[in-house]
Amino acid sequence: MGFNRRDFIGASLAAASLAAAPWAAARTADRKLRILFLGGTGFLGPHTVRYALERGHELTLFNRGRTNNDLFPELETIIGNRDPDIDEGLDGLKGREWDAVIDTSGYVPRIVGASSELLADSVGQYLFVSTICQYDNWAEGGTGGTEARPRATLDDPTTEDVGSHYCALKAYCERAVDAAMPGRVTQIRPGLIVGPRDNTDRFSYWPVRVDRGGEVLAPGKPSDLTQYIDVRDLARFMVHCLEQGRADTYNVVRNPMPFGDLLGACLKTIDSDARLTWVPADFLAEHDLEAWRDIPAWADSDSALAGSLTWSADKALSAGLRISPVEDTIRDTLAWFKSLPQDRQQELRAGMSAEKEAAVLAAWHESRRARG
Ligand SMILES: NC(=O)c1ccc[n+]([C@@H]2O[C@H](COP(=O)([O-])OP(=O)(O)OC[C@H]3O[C@@H](n4cnc5c(N)ncnc54)[C@H](OP(=O)(O)O)[C@@H]3O)[C@@H](O)[C@H]2O)c1
Repeated sequence: MGFNRRDFIGASLAAASLAAAPWAAARTADRKLRILFLGGTGFLGPHTVRYALERGHELTLFNRGRTNNDLFPELETIIGNRDPDIDEGLDGLKGREWDAVIDTSGYVPRIVGASSELLADSVGQYLFVSTICQYDNWAEGGTGGTEARPRATLDDPTTEDVGSHYCALKAYCERAVDAAMPGRVTQIRPGLIVGPRDNTDRFSYWPVRVDRGGEVLAPGKPSDLTQYIDVRDLARFMVHCLEQGRADTYNVVRNPMPFGDLLGACLKTIDSDARLTWVPADFLAEHDLEAWRDIPAWADSDSALAGSLTWSADKALSAGLRISPVEDTIRDTLAWFKSLPQDRQQELRAGMSAEKEAAVLAAWHESRRARG
């Protein structure tokens, strides 16, 4: 029996009348869902698949069979390309029914439109993973920003140049899903996703750097803000939204925390001789160190980027998002990183090089001495 539009609306109303249930990873859900996963084998996918399985749901994956294709041999995987213009495209999904679909691999509105239109009559709920940067002027205007802020627009919304327009294209992907399945869509807008399997190292840089010990260049001032979401918390919230039939839009981030608290938690959690030297933002800029390019997960609170790390997660928290202690995220991320092959560990993919850090620290101490 399929789970159709009417069933979905009934389940949503029932869920809405309940208080957000406390969730426990070990407990199975009251109702087993059949979930289609567009993707599932990269970073966010595996965490979400595993949690959904723990909750007792039934998963079908759809992907090209190229990325980590040995991860879930026990699951049905439909091989196909989600771009309907490539090979058989989405044909493998025709004639099937699921209660819900999770889409972690959509970047181009034409392609996301194709999957949501195709699945409109055969799935009850469409959960699309968008991004916090899909807002209009997201970087400048984040402070306390809620889901009510307008989405970004493009002069040419038909562009498929994801490299140049990743954020705004996600906004158009959201619109495409909304148009295909009005009232049955969950839009998930994560900030920086961090934790085990995050191959970008944008968060890992900090625990890894503290673990390496010695004098650590700490950027700006301790009160500058950072913001992220632990991938495990995000995965649990996504499955929770399906279980509760929540057809709504959520920023999924940890509410902003001072950068000093993040580094303080690294020092507390990791056994090393690391010590912090805070170097002001203007000195960093004079020495060609840029937020994100060289200093991940940080923005100077006086810069145009500051708002990007200050979005509000209050709505998701009210809906049941749970945030893990930062110490757990730090500990688990470092343990995962240290399990990687040695050559990979030598190549941190984010953050400044050790040589650059040492040179800027030396220049900073020299400038302090010169000033007396
Ligand atoms: N990382 C962050 O900080 C961050 C922040 C905000 C939002 N996000 C969003 O979070 C999501 C994270 O995604 P993820 O990569 O971790 O998801 P994932 O589901 O773990 O991995 C991507 C999956 O998509 C499949 N795939 C890629 N191209 C495909 C195609 N043309 N047809 C069919 N399947 C295809 C891949 O398998 P095959 O290669 O085998 O096809 C893989 O299974 C993204 O939507 C991203 O925009 C990320």
